[in-house]
Order: sequence, then C-alpha cells, then structure tokens
Amino acid sequence: MTKQIGILGTGSAIPERILTNAELETMVDTSDEWIVTRTGIRERRIAGPGDTSAKLAFEASVRALEAANLQATDLDLIICATVTPDQAFPATACLVQERLGVSNIPAFDLSAGCSGFGYGIGAAQALLGTGQYQRALIIGVDLLSRITDYSDRSTCVLFGDGAGAMVLGPVPEGYGLLASDLGADGSGGHFLYQENQYIKMSGSEVFKFAVRVMENSTKRVLNKVGLSTNQIQWVIPHQANIRIITAAAARLGIPEERFFVNVDRYGNTSAASIGIAFDELARSGKLQDGDYLVLVGFGAGLTWSALLLKWWAGDVYEQ
Ligand code: UT7
Repeated sequence: MTKQIGILGTGSAIPERILTNAELETMVDTSDEWIVTRTGIRERRIAGPGDTSAKLAFEASVRALEAANLQATDLDLIICATVTPDQAFPATACLVQERLGVSNIPAFDLSAGCSGFGYGIGAAQALLGTGQYQRALIIGVDLLSRITDYSDRSTCVLFGDGAGAMVLGPVPEGYGLLASDLGADGSGGHFLYQENQYIKMSGSEVFKFAVRVMENSTKRVLNKVGLSTNQIQWVIPHQANIRIITAAAARLGIPEERFFVNVDRYGNTSAASIGIAFDELARSGKLQDGDYLVLVGFGAGLTWSALLLKWWAGDVYEQ
C-alpha cells in the first residue's frame, strides 16, 4: 500500500522593501491605473542588498519546520525550485541544508520557472513514494528583481521577490496528495526567457497559455480521482495577473472567491508564489480539515503544474 504524502507545515519569507506602483510611475512610462487594471498588482517586495535567495529560502524553511513541529534533522530530502540562485552552483538547496545544520541528505535545485513549486512537490512525492525517504522540504525562491530590466515597462511592473516552503511527509490514509499533472511545451520557450541578464517576455502569448493550462491541468487532476469542480474549496493559483485568475475561474466554473489571491501585495514571485500563497492561506485559519485544494501554476519552459490534495489539519494548524 502506498503511503499518503501530505503537507505537514508551511512557511514563507519576503523582503521588507516595498516597491509601489507610484514609485514605478517615476521610473518608466506607466501608471498606477494601468498596472492595477491590467494586472491587479498594487505593490511588490524587492530584495535588499543583504538579501540572497539562500537567505530567504532558509527563513521560509525554518518557518515551515516550526509549523510542522519538526527539526531540520527530521528531513530526508531538500528540493529547491528557483531560476535565480545566488550562484549556478552549489545548489541553493545545499546552501539551505548547510544553514539548517544538517548533512548527508540529498539536496538539489530544479528549474521550471513559475511552475517550480509544483514541480518540487511532484518530484518529492515521487521520491517519498519509493519509501526511501520520509520527509521532504520543498522550497520555491526567486529574486526576479535581480534579472528585471527596470527600464522595460512591459515586465518591470510585474515581478517581486520572495520565498515559500513546505514540509511534506506521511499523513493519515485518505489525506494528502491525490493527483498531479506536470507538463511542459518547450516549443513555447521563446515566449519567456532570459537574455543578456534580463527577463524577456511576450506577455500576451504567456497570458493565453496560462489561462488554457490552468483550466486543462486543473480538470486533469480532478478527472484522475473523479472529483468535480464544485467539490474544490480552494484553488491556490500561481500569482501572475488577476485577469489570468479571473479568466481561469470563469472557464472552470469555480467562483473567484475560492481562488486565493495575494498578487496585489507581492506581484509575480515566480517559483515562490504558490508557496507564499499557500502559507498565507494555511495561517489564515480558513482551511478546514478535509478540504479539497488545487495548486496550479504555469511559467517559463513553458511549463505547468497542478496538484490536487485533501487538506489534513493535523495537530499543527488546528487552532
Ligand atoms: O509567471 C509567468 C510569467 N508571466 C506572466 O504570467 C505574464 C502574462 N501576461 C500578462 O500578465 C499580460 O500579458 C501583461 C500584463 C504582461 C500585459 O497585459 P496585456 O493586456 O497583454 O497588454 P499588452 O502586452 O497587449 O499591451 C497593451 C498595451 C501596449 O501598448 P500598445 O502597443 O497597445 O500601444 C503596451 O505597450 O499596454 C502597453 N503597456 C503598458 N502601458 C503602461 C505594456 N506595459 C505597460 C505598462 N504601463 N507597464
């Protein structure tokens, strides 16, 4: 019998510095009105000189371990999703491992753009499913401000920095991860890529892809276990643009109130966004034991990821 894998604790870390739309108005030819109506973003967080991907990833991880009531020595595996590591190598996961004071367990990074958090969960689920490992730390961290061209108004208003983390491990029968749908279409790689240090994006192409895969990937995970959209209590989408979320909600026929949204406060934090959003939702006290949740993302690759899970409140989040 396969052991059920679920979320034992979540954490997040965001830089203190807030970059407002008003400030962006002084940097490029844009307006608060354009940014809010076209994206839903009001402000985003920007890494300070002392912030690094490893530092934010570590802080989010410590919070996730605390929420799970576990020590770093209880971990068997660390996976970090990022496209902005502080260095190409060693892996950010190894830098976090060192800061956590553990050794020997496997630690590696993966690159799947803004779908990275979902890919991390999917990879961990497969590895935990072998029975070789019990508990995994999944981190999504990106400091996109380090690769954003602040003279390009079509991208610089969108992105922010942050880290999200989760501890995965055994949960009671019937709970935890029920289905996943990970995918990629490399033929769309040229719609979102890094060149000469900076992010380049065909926004409207990514937009259309995003709405399509959010609908289709969500439907695929539901179909795998025979659930319908009206049984889903919460969708935790990648936070890129409120219009993408609204369009996906309409196509799925799921009321928008059941989509967790914080894009207004953080912008698009890439691989961190679902981790940060999930952490805020888990700590809000709004999740009920047994809720069906969908985590769905899309990003550079082009990639997508959807995960369906049944929330186990455990001893940790029950207030
Ligand atoms: O996580 C995955 C990564 N990325 C995404 O998910 C982004 C997906 N795409 C989007 O969110 C949207 O496509 C954007 C927000 C990037 C752009 O919105 P849009 O409605 O697709 O606008 P557009 O690119 O078609 O541009 C419309 C107009 C253009 O002017 P013209 O050519 O019609 O005169 C742009 O130059 O808006 C202009 N524009 C701006 N105007 C004011 C583009 N950026 C700005 C800006 N301020 N910041």
